[in-house]
Amino acid sequence: MARAALAPKRQRADQAAELSAALNALSAPIVVIEADRRISWVNQAAEQFFESGAAFLTRLRLDDVMAHDHPLFSLLDQVRTDGSSVSEYGVTIETPRIGQHQVTIEASAMPERPGSTVVMLHRRSIAQKIDRQLVHRNAARSVTAMAAMLAHEVKNPLSGIRGAAQLLEQSGRPEDRELTRLIIDETDRICALVDRMEVFSDQRPIDRQPVNIHEVMERVRRSAQSGFARHVRFIERYDPSLPPALGNRDLLIQVFLNLVKNAAEAVPAQGGEIVLATAYQHGVRLAVPGSDVRTHLPLLVSVQDNGDGIPEDLRPHLFDPFVTTKVNGTGLGLALVAKIVGDHGGVIEFDSHVRRTVFRVLLPVHAVESA
Ligand SMILES: Nc1ncnc2c1ncn2[C@@H]1O[C@H](COP(=O)(O)OP(=O)(O)OP(=O)(O)O)[C@@H](O)[C@H]1O
Ligand SMILES: [Mg+2]
Repeated sequence: MARAALAPKRQRADQAAELSAALNALSAPIVVIEADRRISWVNQAAEQFFESGAAFLTRLRLDDVMAHDHPLFSLLDQVRTDGSSVSEYGVTIETPRIGQHQVTIEASAMPERPGSTVVMLHRRSIAQKIDRQLVHRNAARSVTAMAAMLAHEVKNPLSGIRGAAQLLEQSGRPEDRELTRLIIDETDRICALVDRMEVFSDQRPIDRQPVNIHEVMERVRRSAQSGFARHVRFIERYDPSLPPALGNRDLLIQVFLNLVKNAAEAVPAQGGEIVLATAYQHGVRLAVPGSDVRTHLPLLVSVQDNGDGIPEDLRPHLFDPFVTTKVNGTGLGLALVAKIVGDHGGVIEFDSHVRRTVFRVLLPVHAVESA
């Protein structure tokens, strides 16, 4: 619980701990940089942003992660000479690990620690991201209603049509048989499609158990590699210390199989690469709309491909049903993924650039909530 005033005899160490707790609570990445460009402190949001732990980051110098002509360097010089605070908008931060991000950088001198600079990054996309997340949830909801309606209104008459065609087939002329076959085959195809849709109308809470995500990913990789992803090279970057997820194993397999299938369909025929990665992230919480509950979502599972990227015009509706650019696609894959991830209380988001498209799924752990 936050207290308004600190007790006067509170030890310095306590104060430091409280200060870092406060800085860790912020969603903006914060990094302290020393005069020799060593990174001396990062908050949890910075760990998330750079997809690396504090222990690793604080062994680095800024030169190790940024090009020498990066605008951040002149910004730091300016702060150091003026002893002031400077902001710069629309700066691109790019590393092989995190890809490209547009941020606003705010750098301030620390008068109590001459030579040190505190740098804060504001992600431009944070508001957009939250919007997108809620839009996905709505998309999943609208599919739910539609699926229920479809299953009800379409399947019953379809079985009637199929039955009638079968009767005609028996009594009709042989030359009409081709037509009755066509009716039966097509009604079967529509029935199969409606069956796929029906999953969406299932409103029951899912049955959740501890699930080893690496076992899920291994299953997905093996089945992909023996089928639709035979031409693709897989790279696995797993965090072996990852605790089990709280989820439904079969449904999670379905999620990652769909993401890997899309990735395999996006990569070039030659040199196609899919990176499967897991990581543990502190401090990722999502406010559940309409309540005070904040879910803790520390498990990050990502599927990255080196395809052409997601067409710009598709992005706002990517998780809607029937959005597809593929000749034989149904456009139900990602809608289903969004529904299942939502049912897990998780989040899915994506970043797409040419040669680098990442879908990130954040899931809850199977454990007592840590604070
Ligand atoms: N990794 C990706 N790279 C580029 N585009 C993608 C990627 N994943 C999805 N897309 C785009 O999003 C669209 C929707 O994907 P979704 O999985 O929902 O349907 P689909 O793959 O077209 O059909 P289905 O999943 O039924 O085979 C795709 O048609 C494709 O244009
Ligand atoms: Mg698909």
